[in-house]
Amino acid sequence: MNKPSKPLNVLIMAAGLGTRMKSKRAKVLHELGGSPLIAHVVRAAQALDPRSILVIVGHQAEEVERAVLDEVGELASFVIQAKQRGTGDAVESARDQLEGTDSLVLVLSGDVPMIKVETLKNLIEHHNTSGAACTILSVRLENPTHYGRVIRDQNDSFKKIVEERDASDEERQVKEINSGIYCFESKALFQALRKVEPRNDQGEYYLTDAPGIILASGDTVSVYMHSDAREVYGINTRAELAEFENLVRRGAIRRLMTESGVTFIDPSHAYVSVEAQVGRDTVIHPNVTIEGKCVIGEACVIRAGVRITNSRLGDGVVVKDHSVIVESEVAANCSIGPFAHLRMNAVLEEKAAVGNFVEVKKSRLKRGVKAMHLTYLGDATIGERTNIGAGTVTCNFDGTHKHETIIEEEVKIGSDTMLVAHVRVGARSVTGAGSVVTKDVPPDSLVAGVPAEVKKKLK
Ligand code: UD1
Ligand code: MG
Repeated sequence: MNKPSKPLNVLIMAAGLGTRMKSKRAKVLHELGGSPLIAHVVRAAQALDPRSILVIVGHQAEEVERAVLDEVGELASFVIQAKQRGTGDAVESARDQLEGTDSLVLVLSGDVPMIKVETLKNLIEHHNTSGAACTILSVRLENPTHYGRVIRDQNDSFKKIVEERDASDEERQVKEINSGIYCFESKALFQALRKVEPRNDQGEYYLTDAPGIILASGDTVSVYMHSDAREVYGINTRAELAEFENLVRRGAIRRLMTESGVTFIDPSHAYVSVEAQVGRDTVIHPNVTIEGKCVIGEACVIRAGVRITNSRLGDGVVVKDHSVIVESEVAANCSIGPFAHLRMNAVLEEKAAVGNFVEVKKSRLKRGVKAMHLTYLGDATIGERTNIGAGTVTCNFDGTHKHETIIEEEVKIGSDTMLVAHVRVGARSVTGAGSVVTKDVPPDSLVAGVPAEVKKKLK
């Protein structure tokens, strides 16, 4: 019978360093599919619409907290586990926050990032219908090495969890493993934790002892066996991380091909984050990397060796080989590259074009602007249909401060013009090749020389 469902609190264990990663960085900060392991877990937690998400942090607590907040904001709060004395101790550190809540506590591990929301919902559903005080998510693995084993009695009911290093030879033969994901009634959990002792090979407080203790106290412990083992793989080594990176990437690319109608010339040599959205009929060539939260429109062409990070591209954009676009916005039908670099909120309005060896930083290129060769545009606003000649530089830095350059519409900037900011070039003006523009240019004027002077009025 269904129990009336209690409020849900999610607790995520993420305090460990992850010794087997052989890294100075906390394991949960290592990235999978472009975001930290912990971000994947909190994302799944958030989708359950819980009352709270409590994250146990320790190693590099500040960085882990930032990674969590970036993903779910205020829904998450944190408890410091100063010394990592085991998973039981990790949950114990949340006693003050959770013990009196009369809630369902879903325990997740920060290093099990592939878990699907659907599976967690099924686990909670199973827990609510079984009337158990604790439900363990298990899977069967052909190679269960390193995992805790779920040991059952002769009636096939739950008996205990035993860690591999504490298991007998016979127990090690068991292929049903503990995923490290559990549902607990808050009261039963914190009562059981009082009885957990560090009597094991590692001398740690094991959360895995809690279900056995709950059973011994007369409550029911249930096991929900899930069929897709890949979802609950814990990442403990670099080799496992690489294997999963490959899985996540293949999954993201497959989804874009089947659901979004994106063409990949060579899917095995493209790197696309799970969060990226790409529109129909866009073609992605080999060795393209699309990282973070990117939105790419329809019918774009992304040529080989391009990297796009946290950026938006409209429909029909062509990005030629080996260009880099970071935190920028490109409107429809623009053309970029080859070898172009857009960064720090570069904005290209419709039909703008930047060519080879052009860098655009924190600048807005309005509709139809062209800058086709060897140019630096920083802290600049460039008016519609203006043409920037080869070798143009906005000299935006005076050694201490950055200054702005404004070029109005339909200007022709001659090759090798230096624009010493702060400076404004009026509409429809022309600068001669090699000009060094140190003061504002009025509209409809031709300037040339070093420093540039008005040579004639054009109107
Ligand atoms: C754990 C389980 C094991 C299960 C496996 C599934 C225990 C004792 N064992 O083993 O049965 O099969 O997960 O992946 O629980 N952590 C803390 N504080 C600590 C210790 C760990 O926050 O004091 C965190 C870690 O950062 C990690 C998670 O808990 O995110 C799991 O710890 P880990 O050391 O990876 O446990 P496993 O050996 O994988
Ligand atoms: Mg682990």
